This record gives sequence, C-alpha cells and structure tokens, in this order.
Amino acid sequence: MNDSIDYSQLKIPTHVAIIVDGNGRWAKERGISRLKGHDIGSDNLQKLIPYIMSRGIKVLSLYVFSTENFKRARAEVDHLMDLFVSIYKKELKNYVRNNLKVIFSGRDDPLPKSVIDARDELVEATKNNTGGIVNFCMNYGGRAEIMDAVKRIVHSGVDVNNLTDEDFRHYLYQDLPDVDLMIRTGGELRFSNFLLWQNSYAEFYFPKTKFPDFGPEEFDQAILEYTSRDRRFGGIKQ
Ligand code: IPE
Ligand code: IPE
Ligand code: MG
Repeated sequence: MNDSIDYSQLKIPTHVAIIVDGNGRWAKERGISRLKGHDIGSDNLQKLIPYIMSRGIKVLSLYVFSTENFKRARAEVDHLMDLFVSIYKKELKNYVRNNLKVIFSGRDDPLPKSVIDARDELVEATKNNTGGIVNFCMNYGGRAEIMDAVKRIVHSGVDVNNLTDEDFRHYLYQDLPDVDLMIRTGGELRFSNFLLWQNSYAEFYFPKTKFPDFGPEEFDQAILEYTSRDRRFGGIKQ
C-alpha cells in the first residue's frame, strides 16, 4: 500500500494487460546474463500476480512470450521454455489456493510438449476457480490471433453477412472483455503485436521501470493514472 494514494477513490479496471518487458536490459545494466534477468523477472511476476488480483482486477493478461520471440537465440528460447515449465508446476498450488483461474492465449506450435503439458495441467487444476482470471499470452501474436479467428469463421461456415464485433470476439483465443488498461514496462512505446483486437480502446501506460523492478507500488501508480483518464470511446463528454 502507498500512503500517498487514496484507495477509496480509485477506479478499478476490469481487464488489465501487461507487456512484461525489460528483463534483458535490466540484467545487462547489472552485468549479469539475460537468462538470469528472465529468472528474476519471472519471480517478480509470480509475486505480483496475487497483489494485482487482490486489487479487484477481474482479468489480467500477461504477455510472456510472443510468436516473434522464437527469432531469439536458441539458448534464450530454450531457457524461457524451461522457465515456463518450472513456474507453471511450482506455482500451481498457489493459483489453486488463491482461487485464480489460469488460461492461455496463443498457438501450440512450435511450443515443446513439456510446456504444453505443464500449461494444460495448470488450466485443468484451476478451471473452476472464481477469484479472477490470469491469461498468460505465450507464443501469442495479435495478428496470428486475428488470422486464426478468421480461419475458424471460414471453416465454421457461419453466414459472415450478419457477423458482428461481438460475434467475432467468440472466435478469438479466449472470450474476454476488452482491455481497459495496458501497461508496458521497460520504456518502449509500442505494443509489439499484443492483443490487437482487445486493446482498441485501452488506456496505455508506459513506465520506464524495467520489469524486475516493477512492484505493487508501481502498479498502484498505474491505477492512479488510469483513474484520472477521461475515457470517451468516440463519444462526447456530457
Ligand atoms: C521481456 O524481456 C521478456 C520476453 C520477451 C520473453 P526482454 O527479454 O524483451 O527484455 P529487453 O526488452 O531485451 O530488455
Ligand atoms: C514483447 O516484447 C513481447 C513480450 C514482452 C513477451 P519484445 O521485447 O519481444 O518486443 P520488441 O522486440 O521490443 O518489439
Ligand atoms: Mg523486450
């Protein structure tokens, strides 16, 4: 908790999305390997998730690996894949205890089987939980998601003349509400193919803090900033 924030006045977004970025640069600044930066970033993330959900957020989407991240060096990709397996296994009991439902967005191919198995176990173990949704976007790409939705629509044979925005949403990887607040740590001012459909009217927040240093106080600052935003959705303020 941050003494300078009046918590009773905060507007709590329904869906928060975070681009977990800056692990590599954080490590470089400290003269340690990028891989170690991912380990520390990932520990930070697992600590931060229960805090964020305790603030009343209903859906938290986390960009942990993009379809494009497979372009990275083999050693880094392999390390991240191993990290996913160990985190999903290790944290399973905590998600169960915290009543959080874990879901995933992204393509299976070319994820290793070990990652898919650990993912599926976590999804299965938490599927009836009711305390909020944590959506890991892993091997996720916004364009891939839209392309995959279009293919599913075509294959379903549905009459596209009557298809609405709302109908389209059902063909995305997960049927979730639009993002209200999108945070990207690490200071880059772009959203790198993240939730292209769902971010249409999101409020963006771009702290310079690199992810390993992004903690509860910084998250609360993001909510404070969100509270001050005037969301109009194309309308005119009355
Ligand atoms: C984000 O940190 C984590 C992943 C993309 C998996 P980066 O690895 O992109 O860190 P920077 O941006 O190079 O600092
Ligand atoms: C976006 O970060 C993907 C994740 C954080 C998982 P990147 O570091 O891969 O994005 P770019 O390369 O800076 O656009
Ligand atoms: Mg990056």
